[in-house]
Amino acid sequence: MVGKKRFVIIANGFLINVEGYLLEMGKSTYNRKKLPPEDMYKTPEEYYQGEVLEDYTRSKSLMRIQERITKRALRILGDPAPNCLILDMGMGCGFSTSYLFLNNYNVVGIDLIYEMLTKYKIPELNPVNGNIKKLPFRSKSFDYIISISALQWIINKLKRVERARVLKDVAIRIDLLLKRKGKAVFQFYSVSSNVMREIGAVFADNGHFGEESTFIIDNPNSSTKRKTFLYLKKE
Ligand SMILES: C[S@@+](CC[C@H](N)C(=O)[O-])C[C@H]1O[C@@H](n2cnc3c(N)ncnc32)[C@H](O)[C@@H]1O
Repeated sequence: MVGKKRFVIIANGFLINVEGYLLEMGKSTYNRKKLPPEDMYKTPEEYYQGEVLEDYTRSKSLMRIQERITKRALRILGDPAPNCLILDMGMGCGFSTSYLFLNNYNVVGIDLIYEMLTKYKIPELNPVNGNIKKLPFRSKSFDYIISISALQWIINKLKRVERARVLKDVAIRIDLLLKRKGKAVFQFYSVSSNVMREIGAVFADNGHFGEESTFIIDNPNSSTKRKTFLYLKKE
């Protein structure tokens, strides 16, 4: 823990030196060969359309990856009891949402791209077409909030001041939508160490997220297998 309102970083279950980790992240970020789509396209709508959208929704390997990450996110949330209500933000065609539904959670999914929401396989999902930046739900609606591979889309093309503003709005809204003691987990990609620092600071300063809130990094030394999670626990 660095100061009262700073997030620690946990890598594979161990607290590690924040600066050491940041150096590591910086190195592999700069060595990356191919830019990820969220760094190449201005908006998710520009990327997820036509063949790209069809390929994404039909891909069995992406489905398995998203399911694995969702399972890990549930672990981070402390394996919630079935029947609680979970919001899945940026649900896409429903890989993460379907996994939650099939594991007996009540789940509401939301995504920006209407076409994505025509591809899910389970009729009971009834997703919402909307924006993570303007979540259209009543306060204290959810026990848990999950977001798998979507957060980078809402910040990656923004300059620092605008990014801070967007993150602040999201933090305040997440805080409002969670019930007391509610928890949230965001898994995201392709964010530099500086931006992680900003994310941590914004969530620490906005909302009522307790000291357990933290970043968790699985496989921190692998550029292909690394997964980064922001875990938030409301007081
Ligand atoms: C890589 S997909 C992940 C989908 C899903 N979570 C899964 O596990 O399969 C990212 C999704 O985030 C959605 N997204 C990006 N920005 C969004 C925003 N501002 N509001 C809602 N959804 C957004 C995209 O439309 C896309 O469907």
